[in-house]
Amino acid sequence: MLRQRLIRFLKENKGEYISGQKLSEQLNVSRTAIWKHINELKNEGYQIKSHHKLGYKLVSEPDLLIYEEVSPYLTTNFIGKNYIHKLTIDSTNNLAKEIASKVPDGTVIIAEEQSAGRGRLGRSWLSQKGCGIWMSVILKPNIQPQEAINLTQVAAISVVKAIEELSHVENKIKWPNDIIVNNKKVCGILTEMSSEIDKINYVVIGIGVNVNCYNFPEELKGKATSLNLETNSKVDRKKLTASILNNLEFYYNTYLQKGFEYIRPICIAKSITIGREIKVIYNEGEMVGKAVTIDSNGSLIVETKEGKRLSIMSGDVSVRGLLDYI
Ligand code: BTN
Repeated sequence: MLRQRLIRFLKENKGEYISGQKLSEQLNVSRTAIWKHINELKNEGYQIKSHHKLGYKLVSEPDLLIYEEVSPYLTTNFIGKNYIHKLTIDSTNNLAKEIASKVPDGTVIIAEEQSAGRGRLGRSWLSQKGCGIWMSVILKPNIQPQEAINLTQVAAISVVKAIEELSHVENKIKWPNDIIVNNKKVCGILTEMSSEIDKINYVVIGIGVNVNCYNFPEELKGKATSLNLETNSKVDRKKLTASILNNLEFYYNTYLQKGFEYIRPICIAKSITIGREIKVIYNEGEMVGKAVTIDSNGSLIVETKEGKRLSIMSGDVSVRGLLDYI
């Protein structure tokens, strides 16, 4: 694609002028086409200086999660090959579900802002402009529908590894789908699925990471945080997005080829839930016990005061001393 090649070329020569003539020769298009694309890039936030004799000079790139900015860090074979970027959207999970049956496995939808971001259990998810990673990945695994629940944990360990890589801050998983830094939530995962009795049509993994967000409303302040707030430094959203996708492809493939057993030790090692007292809220009521381990199916094993062991596949789990369970 011309646009991608042009951006790559400008980046390779960042800070230096390249003549329109040279660009048109290198990219094999007319100088008018170059001029048109340069203007488009300027409108999108690329700072490009134009000089009538010297040509064009890239000064800076926008902080946008567009394909051209994220792909230089991507090492995946299929996740993110089809990549849809929106400046604003209601919810990336909504669009993902709308188009899932028509797009390839591994399609990524990412937005700078969501006007109706959704969380688990019908909650909303605050997704302010340009400060986080709000994305959905469409997967079409050949596994049984009841196993899809494991994909949330596959995604969770991928986010943990990516945050470790780029932010060097200790972060853990509140089973099954919250990522916690310093006792507050930095990331949530919403997995949704369409299936028949014995066949998955698609799974949408929605990942929301508070990266450089500061303005949390009062009601979220005690519970939510961002990587920036916890580390006091700005985290590169482009690199973090790519790293999440790279890790996701790696752990997803491992899971599909070798099974949950290979993922389980990481889920256990990175769990903030295991060994602590938890409260599980069901439709019918609530139960208190100690989280003991994650079993070979990915279920959380909880021991009650009476010594009874229960296996939990899903539900709203609060950990004592964490967030809102005091
Ligand atoms: C939760 O913790 O309850 C899950 C939050 C999931 C948020 C992400 S942001 C991208 C994707 N689109 C949505 O509307 N939700 C998920």
